[in-house]
Amino acid sequence: MPLRIAIFASGSGSNAENIISFFSSDPRFEFPVIISNKKNAFVHLRAEKLKIHSVTFSREDFESGESILYFLQSQQINAIILAGFLLKIPIKLIQAFPNKIINIHPALLPKYGGKGMYGHHVHEAVKNAGETVSGITIHYVNEHYDDGNIIFQAKCSVLPTDTSEIIAEKVHKLEYEYFPRVIEEIWG
Ligand code: GAR
Repeated sequence: MPLRIAIFASGSGSNAENIISFFSSDPRFEFPVIISNKKNAFVHLRAEKLKIHSVTFSREDFESGESILYFLQSQQINAIILAGFLLKIPIKLIQAFPNKIINIHPALLPKYGGKGMYGHHVHEAVKNAGETVSGITIHYVNEHYDDGNIIFQAKCSVLPTDTSEIIAEKVHKLEYEYFPRVIEEIWG
């Protein structure tokens, strides 16, 4: 039986697309749906191109978790990947999918994590702190932001001349390279 994975994404969705393309001819994984909290997110256009159903739930739905859980069960989803998803995951989902929800964070947790630390905010904080190294963290999701057990980290150098955009590019490169491989490693 293939693992049926729902991808949650709030923005561009380049990681979502990369993961789906990576597993496109792998019978062990199915990606029946992308779930967003933003109706106008670019990820919906990527989903359309990939011929994958995408849906939007409101912030209130995410806070309660009830309608989302019902929807995921109706789609026979077994696992969830957060790929640039910015809302907290409700406890109901965490309990319903034990060790089956993972997140990618664009820095080396526990540094630069927590509420409000997403996307460019992370890279700006790394730059302003004068870090010489940044990277990615893939971790299990618990009820706190960026706090679950770490599965994998990879590093990239940060030069004094790097802008936050350049750091973002380096980090995205690591994400594209490693996120699918880690998924394969833990769930394949
Ligand atoms: C990624 O860099 C991901 O690590 C980050 O958002 C970006 C989404 O890019 N996630 C977070 O900041 C979560 N705290 P994408 O939409 O192009 O995949």
